[in-house]
Amino acid sequence: MRGQDRPRLTRRASVLLAAGLLAAAGTAALAQMAAEIVPPLTGAGQPMADTAAPPVPHWVVDDIRKMRAYPEQPPIIPHSIEGYQLSVNSNRCMSCHKREFTQGSGAPMISVTHYMTREGQMLADVSPRRYFCTACHVPQADTRPLIDNTFVDMSELGVGHAGDQ
Ligand code: HEC
Ligand code: HEC
Repeated sequence: MRGQDRPRLTRRASVLLAAGLLAAAGTAALAQMAAEIVPPLTGAGQPMADTAAPPVPHWVVDDIRKMRAYPEQPPIIPHSIEGYQLSVNSNRCMSCHKREFTQGSGAPMISVTHYMTREGQMLADVSPRRYFCTACHVPQADTRPLIDNTFVDMSELGVGHAGDQ
């Protein structure tokens, strides 16, 4: 019995060993790829090295509402939000974007989704899950992209448009 069991065990061991070697080779290849990809994104060739912080970019604050890349994209913020307090007790954004204040401020109202709970229940005020605006809405800076972007808008993919003719 023992004599029969032994070769089976060794075969299993060698399969494990081969799998281990493959995994090790794969990890090494991945690590090499990561070494090539990461520095342009982090700015540091050596992740733990001290590097000078790049200058803060200039925000685009031209007040021109930008087209969205897709209908449900949180629109980007086209104005300065420098010094706007956004805390549990005070929400500067809502002083212009809340439904009640839009007539005076000229700001677009936060859309209906911002008044909905997770279950779709409509509230009188902004839903807690939409309270911290900058979790989703961000200002833009005019900077050079770190990697090329081949994004194509879906309306340029040859679809017919409703109401075109
Ligand atoms: C003083 C009033 C005011 C305050 C405060 C304010 N906004 Fe605005 N916001 C506007 C106005 C007006 C516009 C329309 C575009 C423009 O004039 O800049 C706008 C546009 C936007 C847009 C673009 C909407 C779209 O459909 O393109 C977003 C997003 C936005 N604001 C988010 C914020 C956030 C987040 C804050 C708080 C950090 C904030 N705003 C604070 C007045 C304000
Ligand atoms: C969880 C993410 C999230 C948070 C938090 C959030 N928004 Fe939005 N917002 C969106 C998305 C997604 C859209 C576009 C689709 C929609 O209307 O739901 C949007 C749309 C908007 C629009 C454009 C509305 C329109 O009809 O064109 C404004 C203005 C806006 N948000 C302001 C705010 C303000 C101000 C806050 C903070 C009180 C806020 N948002 C918080 C995700 C968010």
